Amino acid sequence: MTDRIAERVRAVLPRVVEQRRDFHRHPELAYEEVRTSGKVIEWLGALGLEVRSGIGKTGVIARLRGDRPGKTIALRADMDALPVQEATTHGSARHGFASLVAGKMHACGHDVHTAMLLGVATVLSELRDQIAGEVRFLFQPAEEGLGGAVPMIEAGAVDGVDLALGQHMGPTHPTGTIALSRGPAMAATDFFTLKILGRGGHGAYPHLSVDAIPIAAQVVTALQTIVSRSVDPLEAAVVTIGTIQGGFRNNVIAPEVEMTGTVRTFDRTLRESLPARVERIVRGVADAHGARYELDYALNYPAVVNDPTAAQLLERAAAEVLGADRVQVIPPSMAGEDFAYYAERVPACFYWLGCRPLGAQDFANLHSPSFAPSWRARRWISSRARAEAGRVARRGSGLIVAP
Ligand code: NI
Repeated sequence: MTDRIAERVRAVLPRVVEQRRDFHRHPELAYEEVRTSGKVIEWLGALGLEVRSGIGKTGVIARLRGDRPGKTIALRADMDALPVQEATTHGSARHGFASLVAGKMHACGHDVHTAMLLGVATVLSELRDQIAGEVRFLFQPAEEGLGGAVPMIEAGAVDGVDLALGQHMGPTHPTGTIALSRGPAMAATDFFTLKILGRGGHGAYPHLSVDAIPIAAQVVTALQTIVSRSVDPLEAAVVTIGTIQGGFRNNVIAPEVEMTGTVRTFDRTLRESLPARVERIVRGVADAHGARYELDYALNYPAVVNDPTAAQLLERAAAEVLGADRVQVIPPSMAGEDFAYYAERVPACFYWLGCRPLGAQDFANLHSPSFAPSWRARRWISSRARAEAGRVARRGSGLIVAP
C-alpha cells in the first residue's frame, strides 16, 4: 500500500505544484473564491467524485466512497487569500508565479493547502478499491476571520464523520517535519472595539472638557491587569490592544478615542468570563472621569482542541511516513483557526506541516508579504526518507496519508 501511494504521489506531484502556482497567481479573498473553487470543482469532477458546491457561496464538499463500509474521515483545506501586497521573488523569470492581483496574496499558504488536498483526492481516488468507508474532502471558504467553516458544517460537512484532519503551513518548523499538540492546540480568538466618549474642546481649557486621551491611556494600562492579576497564572490568556486612534491636532482636546483588541484563551469558562471583566474595567475608569464608552465584544473562533486519540493516530502515521524524529509534539499556540468548529463537533486533529527552508535562520512568517513556503528539503527527504519508506513498506504497516 505504501508503495502504491508513494508511486501515485510522485505521479500527481507536478500537477499539484502547477495548480498551487496557479492559485498563487490568482488569490481571492474570503467568500470571493469563485475562480479557486471553480478549479477545485473541475479537478474533483474529473476524478468522478460526488461533488457539492456553492456552500457558504464558494465551499465545496466531495465524497469518495470505498467499496466496503467503514469509517468516515474528513480532510479539510481552506481556500482564501489575504489583503496583502506580495513581496516575494516568485515574480522572477525563473518562477513567475507571484500574485497577479494588486493588494491580494496567498500569504497564509491556503493555496498550498487547497492544491495538496486535490492531490490527495487524486491519489485516494486511484486507490478506491483499498478504501473501506468514506473519505470526505472539505474545501472551505473564508478561514481568515469570517468563519467559513460554519456554513460548511451547516451544510453537513461533518455529518457522520469519525475523524477530521486539517493542516497548516508551518514556517517555524523545518520542511519535511510536522508538529502537533495533544489536546488544546490553538486559542479561542475574540475581538473587541472600544470607544471612550468624552467631550472635546480647546487644548488650553481642559477643565471645560472631558479628555478622552488620558482616560483611554488608563483603560489600556488597566486592561493589562486582567492577564497579570486576575487570570490564574497557570491558565493561558492574552489581551492585546492592536489599534488606538483619537484626536485631531495638538491644541484640541480629543472628544473620542477608539481602540480595537483581541482576547485569546483556551479554557471555556475563562473565555466566557472575560467580556464582563473587560467591561468592568472600562466602565470603572470611564465613570471615574465622567466619560461614557461603547464596547462591542465579539466571540469569534473557539479554541482548537485536538482529540488525544486522533492526535496519537496522526503522530503514529506521520512517524511511519516521515520518521519519528520528524514529528514534533509542541505546546499550543495563541493563534486561532476556524478548524475549531469542526473539532468542536467530531474527533479531530490539526497539525503544522513544516515549510521552513532547511537551515534557514531568517524566514518570513505567515501573513508576511514575503511568506514563501519551502519544499527545498525535497532532496533531503528523498535521500533519507526513501530508505525509511522502504523500511515501512517492508514492515507492511497500515498508512494514513496526511493531506
Ligand atoms: Ni491560514
